[in-house]
Amino acid sequence: MTSYKDNPDAVRALVQPDRVHRDLYISPEIFTLEQEHFFANTWNYAGHESQIPKSGDYLRNEIAGRPLIVVRHSDGSVRVMMNRCAHKGSRLVNAPSGNTGKFFRCPYHAWTFKTDGSLLAIPLKNGYEGTQLHECESAKSLTTIRNVRSYRGFIFVKINDGGPDFEEFFGDSLSSIDNMADRSPEGELEIAGGCLRFMHQCNWKMFVENLNDTMHPMVVHESSAGTAKAMWADKPADEPQPMAIEQFAPFMSDYKFFEDMGVRTYDNGHSFTGVNFSIHSKYKAIPEYDDAMKAAYGEERTAQILGMARHNTVYYPNLTIKGAIQAIRVVKPISVDKTLIESWTFRLKGAPPGLLQRTTMYNRLINSPFSVVGHDDLHAYRGIQAGLHASGNEWVSLHRNFDPAENRGGEITTVGTSELPMRNQYRAWARYMTETM
Ligand code: FES
Ligand SMILES: [Fe+2]
Repeated sequence: MTSYKDNPDAVRALVQPDRVHRDLYISPEIFTLEQEHFFANTWNYAGHESQIPKSGDYLRNEIAGRPLIVVRHSDGSVRVMMNRCAHKGSRLVNAPSGNTGKFFRCPYHAWTFKTDGSLLAIPLKNGYEGTQLHECESAKSLTTIRNVRSYRGFIFVKINDGGPDFEEFFGDSLSSIDNMADRSPEGELEIAGGCLRFMHQCNWKMFVENLNDTMHPMVVHESSAGTAKAMWADKPADEPQPMAIEQFAPFMSDYKFFEDMGVRTYDNGHSFTGVNFSIHSKYKAIPEYDDAMKAAYGEERTAQILGMARHNTVYYPNLTIKGAIQAIRVVKPISVDKTLIESWTFRLKGAPPGLLQRTTMYNRLINSPFSVVGHDDLHAYRGIQAGLHASGNEWVSLHRNFDPAENRGGEITTVGTSELPMRNQYRAWARYMTETM
């Protein structure tokens, strides 16, 4: 058995230009190293500003295995710090979200910290006179994260210093977030409709890969989307489709549809499917919404914004968004074979209620633990997680449409059925995984 710790060459050897080794998905050691290195070296989504509108509002989160607090400081800025008391290490906040007022008070011995992480007070302070406390980390402040960036309300953090800054890391892939926010007549999004949490018994990478895998929908979703499509097969063409049929049926589009849809990749593992059109392109117009958009942006710009109906955009590694339906999925790795997927929906500020209704219905039907489409995918991931333990072949093929020129990186647009997005993800994975090893 290869040991990967302190062995960056062995880690790099797991990723070949057109295939990857199974240990990426099944080795507990690789999972531990990913938490320590890979996630700490990349920009990860940590929440949306609309979740913490007021001073003292906070979210608890975990990224790269580190417990974090994302908080609105009294000056209005978003601060991120380790959720770890400077005294003996207790979590400062245990609730998933809330308002802490002007300071955090540790639930164990009541040390208090301001919302910028600085130490405010210690009970019975004179007990520390003449001790070394003031010389060590414990008397300073909470460990704060320096690399925090909010982009149109989306908060990203990078735990480690070094590596590309935010703009360089995401590059022009940010156009998908822009399009989602521009779909609001006010240009702003707001989290709404709750969060649906769906535990996946698989490695996190299977889920992320699958978002741009367009060779599976017509196979994996035949039982669910195929049934919905068949139910509607005999209806006259002008019969208005119920929203559920409208959302299910495009998953059963043929290979040509997905091929022509197109995919675009960017450096650092990001990509989106739906360069030309997508499964969301044919949704019925909502007239009051169109009017609100035209009033805000004018006819031409509205057509541009709504004409961009991208399918899934992967903000590698932990955020995937669907701009056209205002839904995001956040990837939370739990262990080598367990991943929590959180699905959140957004209200487009200034848009009529029908938009949020369409979004939340999509989220329930397609992404949630009580959806039918999501279970199709999960069934496939569980099959892979088990199948990869077979002997005789230790490699996962990513050869479809491979072109050696793609190793140069940069922005690439190609057929929607290419496995380029996965190869692109693993090139980034190998880089950021080994950067600090
Ligand atoms: S652990 Fe926080 S005050 Fe003691
Ligand atoms: Fe799927």
